[in-house]
Amino acid sequence: MKVKIGIVGFGEFSESFLPLFIAHPDVEYVCGAEIYEPRRKHIEEVYGIKMYSSYDEMLEKDTEINSIGIFTQRHQHGPMAIKAMEAGKHVYSAVPMGITEKEVFDIIKLADEKDLIYMMSETCYYFPCAIFCRKMREEGKFGNITYAESQYYHNITEFIGSYNGSGNDAWKKDIGIPPMYYSTHSMSMAFSAMDDYPVEVTAFGYKDIENDGFYGKGMNHWDNEFSNETAILRMSKGAMVRINEFRRVSTIKPSSYITGVYGDRGTYEASGMQHLFMQRSDDDKVSVNDVSSIVDSYNYAQMIKDGGSMEKGILSYSYHRGFSPVHDIDRLPESFIELATGLHKPDTDGHGGSHPFLVDDFVRAVVQHKLPPVNAWTAATYTLPGIYAHESALKGGVTLKLPEIPKIPEKWEKIEI
Ligand SMILES: NC(=O)c1ccc[n+]([C@@H]2O[C@H](COP(=O)([O-])OP(=O)(O)OC[C@H]3O[C@@H](n4cnc5c(N)ncnc54)[C@H](O)[C@@H]3O)[C@@H](O)[C@H]2O)c1
Repeated sequence: MKVKIGIVGFGEFSESFLPLFIAHPDVEYVCGAEIYEPRRKHIEEVYGIKMYSSYDEMLEKDTEINSIGIFTQRHQHGPMAIKAMEAGKHVYSAVPMGITEKEVFDIIKLADEKDLIYMMSETCYYFPCAIFCRKMREEGKFGNITYAESQYYHNITEFIGSYNGSGNDAWKKDIGIPPMYYSTHSMSMAFSAMDDYPVEVTAFGYKDIENDGFYGKGMNHWDNEFSNETAILRMSKGAMVRINEFRRVSTIKPSSYITGVYGDRGTYEASGMQHLFMQRSDDDKVSVNDVSSIVDSYNYAQMIKDGGSMEKGILSYSYHRGFSPVHDIDRLPESFIELATGLHKPDTDGHGGSHPFLVDDFVRAVVQHKLPPVNAWTAATYTLPGIYAHESALKGGVTLKLPEIPKIPEKWEKIEI
């Protein structure tokens, strides 16, 4: 089976995936839907694909598509994915999977009962730091992992530019979403590095004091007052994880990253662009290795070589764009390599070089009818804890037990990556 995909939502994000879907050798057909006319016309003119004026219209009228790509506002993903799966379509969805427990469990149920591929477009799963830590864990270099911390820091004012382009003011109520509802970046990096899942959570929220209309009662769909939230999770094997989701923060890039994974044999620690891996030997000697050249992107290495002359925001660009030595670029379709190298627009190599791997994994999953790494079950593991963390924060930090996520049914094989 070849992929025939209808993509909904053409804000800033989806355009850096669209050329990859079009170029993939196993994608036969691409169409799109966008409510806002100027955005719809732009995509029609630049890419020449068929465009519909709403998601419902595309779902009802297009007889070609077997898959849906969801790139709409965060709180719309769950209901749109459910609608697509009820109509028998495979789903590729921007994060988060959903913002309610029901949405998350409904998606798992549909994937299971209807034999459909659901993949959450979790860019951070493919971030170099996450890949590096997974590799170290698989090689046994951490020993027993006891603790990890990761975070997503993104100041709220930087979202305005992408939120306010849909031709109306609805974004003003969307933007103040509880930070923990968007914690899949942080959770996926830590949990996949540890190969573990959480069983309980406690969290606190910082009540915002800025009065700029984003946070507070009546300011957003959720009456959310917290701009920053911090969660501590207990993992199934006993380790702890600390997650920070900050939307009132003075940092710029890196925004989502692992600060540390701590084992009784090995430790990964990062600060900015420096990444260290420390190992304790059997005779209790500790070696400290700078692994930055493996984890940082080729762009960053080039920027250092050029004496820091990379055009535009140095950290931002070198962190955000392009592959790293830990990426297995040889497994990607040839047509992706040119698209995903060079600092061009749209940034098909964006978010730490993750976009080409995401698209390729979804396409391979549909074609081979096997599960991608961030499938419905895994995505639930990365999404539900944030929903519960916000609940805990609203209750002043009470510890909440997390619901059990069903095991992946045995009938499913996973794609090789
Ligand atoms: N690293 C990451 O994983 C990452 C990065 C950026 C954005 N995102 C996520 O991707 C999603 C899209 O981001 P964005 O910045 O492009 O958002 P955006 O708000 O700029 O764009 C969403 C678009 O969807 C359109 N839309 C909404 N409902 C529709 C419908 N029913 N039919 C057709 N079109 C509809 C809107 O008109 C709008 O143009 C968001 O959920 C965002 O959080 C993820």
